[in-house]
This record gives sequence, structure tokens and C-alpha cells, in this order.
Amino acid sequence: MTITTLDTPLAKPLLDWYDRHHRDLPWRVSPGMAARGVKADPYRVWLSEVMLQQTTVQAVKPYFERFLQRWPEVTDLAAAENDAVMAAWAGLGYYARARNLKKCAAAVAKEHGGIFPDTEEGLKSLPGIGDYTAAAVAAIAFNRQAAVMDGNVERVISRLYAISTPLPAAKPAMREKVALLTPADRPGDFAQAMMDLGATICTPKRPACSLCPFRGACEALKLSDPELFPVKAAKKEKPVRYGAAFIAVTGDGEILLRRRIDSGLLGGMTEVPTTAWTARIDGETSADAAPFDAAWQSSGTVIHVFTHFELRLSIWRAAIAAKVAMDDGRNDGWWEPVTNLEAQALPTIMKKAIAAAIPLAFKTSKG
Ligand code: ADE
Repeated sequence: MTITTLDTPLAKPLLDWYDRHHRDLPWRVSPGMAARGVKADPYRVWLSEVMLQQTTVQAVKPYFERFLQRWPEVTDLAAAENDAVMAAWAGLGYYARARNLKKCAAAVAKEHGGIFPDTEEGLKSLPGIGDYTAAAVAAIAFNRQAAVMDGNVERVISRLYAISTPLPAAKPAMREKVALLTPADRPGDFAQAMMDLGATICTPKRPACSLCPFRGACEALKLSDPELFPVKAAKKEKPVRYGAAFIAVTGDGEILLRRRIDSGLLGGMTEVPTTAWTARIDGETSADAAPFDAAWQSSGTVIHVFTHFELRLSIWRAAIAAKVAMDDGRNDGWWEPVTNLEAQALPTIMKKAIAAAIPLAFKTSKG
């Protein structure tokens, strides 16, 4: 495809590289498709960008396909049951994204007639859309000259300009650089090209500098070793929290589940009964903390790393003769056939906990 105006000297080599080497992704309108008149669908772009925050392209692909099959338009998602969206999201992590997804779809449907606003400002007025998503959707879906910066782009920029300020302090300066580089022509392709470059050439380890369209301009390559960038502030060690999870199964093969409260970590998702997750190793990790008396047997410990802490859950399993009421005062539990667990909104930590006690509970492993 032809480039009419070019605002920055680095845009052309990058776009030329993208025309030849872009990744084919299910939500993407490739340069070849664009040349045949295919337009980006703002719903697909928005959905993919929300899913891709903190999650890899490979992990997102099957979720994206399933969401689109089930809810082909933003108005379909707006009309969906909250619990169905949470269940479809289960395994992708960062569940506030799923809660906001529904809210945002509802706002687009109700307040904008089912049409996404086409500017960064308009997009930012929607629930759950922050600076990154607004810029990405404005650029990719509406070809606005917005500065799009995710982790891949940060790495490319930090190397191109050999930025020695550590992350995250360097972010505002990096965003200015991205804004200066972003051309008026094909800003959406430019943003996607920067991401693809970061994902395939300018990789964290052993970047393929000889194949890079920026190799003549890259300060890090001239100065030293590109792998030294981006410079990162020293990481604090993650605190460890402890808890216990209780897997109760009836003779009919039903397991006790409950719904987590809407706010906070894993809010609105499904879980097996657990204790609070505390910093103390003593106390609430034994069978004494179970929601009812039973012959609880240990099924070991499951470890899961969240953004701000590592969780070590002691797993307890009991075979129950008859369904028991939970005496935790919440009354939000139910008994679910183990054969129907795949359809539940179980986050990965809960799937791990159940699998520790019932090894064949999940026949497929998808996150
Ligand atoms: N990561 C986040 N958004 C992306 C996109 N649009 N293309 C490729 N990788 C991405």
C-alpha cells in the first residue's frame, strides 16, 4: 500500500517492515485487507485490546474467538448475563477487566446507540477505558494519530533512544517519544507495527537486531547492548499469603461452590470455600477453618502468583454423604456436578485447587 505523507523519518521503514512481516491476528485488519477496503471493527479492536492487557497474544486468541462467536456485536455483549461473561472470561485473569467489559458494552449500547465514540477523549469517557485502551482503539479502529504504548513499545522506545531512566519513572518521557514518532498517515498500523516489532524482533532476550528496521537509528545498539534496556527499578520481593481451600464432594459427584463478593480480587468469580488469605503461616490453613465438620483429608498445597502477592493454599478434600449447609453466614453457595465445572466462572487458582483434590476434574487445560 502507498504512503502519502510521512511525518517522521522512522515511520516509513517501520511501516515497510510491517507490510511484509506483520502478524496475522484474528482481530486485525492487515495492510492487504485494508487495501481491499476492509475496515477495522471498533468492537473487535476494543475487545482484543482489553483482553491483551497483561495477557499474551497466544492466551487471548481462543478467548477472543469464543467471545465473538457468542456475542458478535457490542449490543449482544451489553445484553449478556454478567455471570455468563465472567464464566467466559475465567482463566484470563485480572477479572476487573471482565466486569468493566460488560459495563462498557452497556454504556456503548445505551448511551451511544451501539456505536463506539471515535476519539480518544470520547473513548476515555466509557467505563474501564483508560489512557492505553483509548489510544489503541482510537489509532487502530479510527486511524487517529494517538500515541499507543504498551510493554512491547516501551522496550522498543527505550532501546531506540537508550533511555537510562528506570521504568516506571521513564514512562512519560517514553510516551512523548512515541507521540513524536507516530505519523498522521497509518497511525493504527504504526502502533501495531511497534507492538509486533517488540514481540518478534526487539525481544527482551537476544533481540534480532540485524533484521530490525530501526537498526541504523537505534542508540542502544550503537552504544552498548540493547538487552540492557529498558532499565527497570529493582523489584521488591512479593509477600506471601496463606489460606486453606475446601473441596467437598457428594456421593453423587457434586462439589460445593460459592460466589465471591463483587469487589476486590477475583470479585464476582466462582470459588470453592476458602479461608481469608492472610500473611500468617500459623492459624487459618488447617481443616479447623472448614465451613463445616467432615473427614477433611489433605490434598497438599497449591501456589499461585498474583500481581501483588504469592498465595499458598492448603487444599482439603472431604467425601460428603449428604449435602451440607455452609455455616459461613453468607448463604451464597451451591452444589455443582463436577462434570459441569468447565462452564463455571472459576479463576485459575480455583481450578488448580480443585485439580489438586480431584485430578480428573478438568479434562482439558485452558488457562
Ligand atoms: N498487544 C496489545 N495490543 C496488540 C495489538 N493490537 N497487536 C498486537 N499485539 C498487541
